[in-house]
Amino acid sequence: MSFFLSWIKNYVKNPLELGAILPTYKFAANLMTKEIISNEKTIVVELGAGTGDITKSIINRGILPENLILVEINEDFCKILKQRFPKAQIYCEDAKTFFTKRIFNGKKINYIVSGLPFVAMSKAQKMEICELSFDNLSKNGVFFQITYFIKCSFPVEIINKKNLMKRLIGFTLLNVPPAFIWSIARRN
Ligand SMILES: C[S@@+](CC[C@H](N)C(=O)[O-])C[C@H]1O[C@@H](n2cnc3c(N)ncnc32)[C@H](O)[C@@H]1O
Repeated sequence: MSFFLSWIKNYVKNPLELGAILPTYKFAANLMTKEIISNEKTIVVELGAGTGDITKSIINRGILPENLILVEINEDFCKILKQRFPKAQIYCEDAKTFFTKRIFNGKKINYIVSGLPFVAMSKAQKMEICELSFDNLSKNGVFFQITYFIKCSFPVEIINKKNLMKRLIGFTLLNVPPAFIWSIARRN
């Protein structure tokens, strides 16, 4: 089955979990990754990798596939990710489970790129995922989030608690739905 048909089948089954009617187009994917600066040690975690359209853009930024960690809850999509990115580390599980099962000693993650549908999650669930993300990001690490509303879906409580700042870094109409891209990072 093609990536597209697999997406439509799963969207019909569980629209809230997917959060978007179609996979991210390359224009929004490129906005998501435009601030990634890579070298051979840069580690990126992608949360809610779907069928891999943002993943492709992350690799185009020069991230080595073996330094790419993909987290995706949907088993059909995980099979597609394994075919498309055989060298990436792929975890077919919930983003919170991913972080609670592993401790990234030395806080080595440089970037977290998230397509997670926070608006469809409970407040507690999204707060836990966002807090765990910053517990595991390096000091200068950045979290990127795509949203389909002008309001940033990263919880303000975690922004305040962890002394973070958010920035709108991009917007495109060339996506279904139109996409806003946010970066969230520690205040220096
Ligand atoms: C809006 S889609 C983005 C997919 C892909 N990144 C893209 O841009 O095309 C959200 C993705 O997050 C996944 N997802 C939803 N809840 C999740 C969770 N709690 N943990 C991990 N993945 C989740 C969905 O299965 C879906 O693939």
